[in-house]
Amino acid sequence: MDKKSKMQAEKHLTGTLVLSVFTAVLGFFQYGYSLGVINAPQKVIEAHYGHVLGIAPLDRHATNTSGEDGTIPVTEPWGGTEGTLAPPADTEEDLGTSPHLILTMYWSLSVSVFAIGGMVSSFTVGWIGDRLGRVKAMLVVNVLSIAGNLLMGLAKFGPSHVLIIAGRAVTGLYCGLSSGLVPMYVSEVSPTALRGALGTLHQLAIVTGILISQVLGLDFLLGNDKMWPLLLGLSGVAALLQFFLLLLCPESPRYLYIKLGKVEEAKKSLKRLRGNCDPMKEIAEMEKEKQEAASEKKVSIRQLFTSSKYRQAVIVALMVQISQQFSGINAIFYYSTNIFERAGVDQPVYATIGVGVVNTVFTVISVFLVEKTGRRSLFLAGLMGMLISAVAMTVGLVLLSDFAWMSYVSMVAIFLFVIFFEVGPGPIPWFIVAELFSQGPRPAAIAVAGFCNWACNFIVGMCFQYIADLCGPYVFAIFAALLLVFFLFAYFKVPETKGKSFEEIAAVFRRKKLPAKAMTELEDLRGSEEA
Ligand code: GLC
Repeated sequence: MDKKSKMQAEKHLTGTLVLSVFTAVLGFFQYGYSLGVINAPQKVIEAHYGHVLGIAPLDRHATNTSGEDGTIPVTEPWGGTEGTLAPPADTEEDLGTSPHLILTMYWSLSVSVFAIGGMVSSFTVGWIGDRLGRVKAMLVVNVLSIAGNLLMGLAKFGPSHVLIIAGRAVTGLYCGLSSGLVPMYVSEVSPTALRGALGTLHQLAIVTGILISQVLGLDFLLGNDKMWPLLLGLSGVAALLQFFLLLLCPESPRYLYIKLGKVEEAKKSLKRLRGNCDPMKEIAEMEKEKQEAASEKKVSIRQLFTSSKYRQAVIVALMVQISQQFSGINAIFYYSTNIFERAGVDQPVYATIGVGVVNTVFTVISVFLVEKTGRRSLFLAGLMGMLISAVAMTVGLVLLSDFAWMSYVSMVAIFLFVIFFEVGPGPIPWFIVAELFSQGPRPAAIAVAGFCNWACNFIVGMCFQYIADLCGPYVFAIFAALLLVFFLFAYFKVPETKGKSFEEIAAVFRRKKLPAKAMTELEDLRGSEEA
């Protein structure tokens, strides 16, 4: 076989491989759906919380959901008789604190408790994945997704705020597990030549999930007073689909060979995934990986923090996660309808969908950019673009009362903010951690980075509404200031990892002498710091 046809064979996509990768990334699709779904129906669900808790709807929205006379529209679960509820009397006194603050608290918690679930479960990924195997683990954790979606789907039949908060927490548990298990499985079933391309499907599945949840959240589809429980519970369908499709997917050959030592089963799985190719070449590769893994001691999370050898890399791994989340991106994905409303946009839900479309398109573009341009430059360019957009957004919001056309400035700025995010700070943190560490410390580093990402996601989801209520149009100035700090950090500390071996990257952190070629490259990158 000549070199070209050999490459073609290595890139061969079999039906089983396509099915396996598609099935796995349904987990990331659910992650995106859960992230985006809470955005459009904020008004109707808050009104329902208000109804359950006896609190009048918030007036932070441009159009109030209560009737002219202060009544709150009520619908029976999933479309029964409609009516109105008398405005609650003396709620301020009854609750002893501002009822709007209570409503904001329940809403912020409904948004962000999802990330607490993710934070908690992301730590257990390695353990579950090794114990049950990748496929069985993904099968079992689907139970969490189905349970969480049921809780939300039935929210109108009980205290809706409690059921939604519980449902989102359980869905978060699923997504935390999924965000570790899926990349593990996908990277292990993909042939080396396709690993990069298939790996980028994660972010694509997330953004598709966000977009679909935004479209379904339109008020004439499911984002209305009658249908919102169905909207929230619908990703259970993806969980069910994933559950049944997983029954057809082969177990990861790497798991079978390296972890369990089952040679014959690994070969069988490889034959299904690769078609007629000879499995022996990949088996030899796995044998090498097995020996490497055996020669390098596994590093615990504690050792990761205590050993000075890893300190620089750990700081970089954590800072890229913090930059991704504290850039404010999920303030947009959780709250954009509300933000657009404040910015004076007439049809905020359509603007939100526009954001979803732009987000998806630029994720596709970044798939091509990332292998061409390198991680560091894209990360830096993305942060700088987001910083400028955040400043423009602030100017637009502040001057809105003087110039009506400023609403266009804010709107364009929000779109640019999302575009620059997808150029670098969006996709890169998901895979750069694996590139920064070798086999031994990698699992611990991935767990810690995942935890950090979810924790920051939680903080933004929980605090944004309060801060927005407090700072008004200046809220994005806070993100602009943070983005400046992240840019400076990345400029001085984040090395280029594209095309470098683990040894070279580790040497950057240890500031060891490198071979001449790598040294010149690194000096270019970090010249200012060394000076
Ligand atoms: C990244 C982030 C996620 C965010 C998404 C938006 O995947 O991790 O939190 O919502 O990008 O596209």
